Amino acid sequence: MSEPELHYFCKPTGERPVARVVEFLTMPEFIADEPACKTLWELVSTQFRTRGKFLAVWAGVRFVAVHRDIDGTADGFLLVNAPINWQIDYVVVAASARGQGVASALVTETLNQAYLRGVPYVMLTSKESLRPLYEGCGFVAVEEEPTPNPLPAGRGLSASPVRAR
Ligand SMILES: CC(C)(COP(=O)(O)OP(=O)(O)OC[C@H]1O[C@@H](n2cnc3c(N)ncnc32)[C@H](O)[C@@H]1OP(=O)(O)O)[C@@H](O)C(=O)NCCC(=O)NCCS
Repeated sequence: MSEPELHYFCKPTGERPVARVVEFLTMPEFIADEPACKTLWELVSTQFRTRGKFLAVWAGVRFVAVHRDIDGTADGFLLVNAPINWQIDYVVVAASARGQGVASALVTETLNQAYLRGVPYVMLTSKESLRPLYEGCGFVAVEEEPTPNPLPAGRGLSASPVRAR
């Protein structure tokens, strides 16, 4: 069974320190960097099962947060869909760069950019096990209300309990 996912939101209220340098690029700036595009595609292809979903998300991406190693090679990415509120998708860091605060820096820089641009809310959906990462950056998990008790037999239209959100 796949791991449950949680929805998170954050209302940016100020700038926070970012432990690593992160570039916050518009889409034209990002696609001008072909090696970085290639690395992003390699990471998405190997770290996520849903390449079709990636292509659907890609169509709406407006910003890409990028971290680079000391040689300038991109090794961490995060995509931002930005109609009005922002949605973070596909936070991914190369295996060799993990455990050093890269994802945390990508997310924190994105929240700072949202604050500076007056974005009301930032949202994301992620595996439950990454809750410490996102809560550490200032996100709050949207808790689902407990499943209500099913109605007594004959009182409901459906046999399945409806999940309140
Ligand atoms: C998840 C991922 C982005 C984390 O990147 P990272 O740069 O190693 O993360 P950070 O070093 O910034 O971690 C910051 C904190 O997040 C938490 N965290 C990071 N990776 C975690 C993991 N795999 N499981 C649980 N918590 C994790 C820890 O609390 C960590 O703090 P600590 O190092 O003091 O313990 C990276 O492992 C990755 O690319 N995984 C594959 C793709 C993926 O699952 N992306 C998430 C999609 S929502």
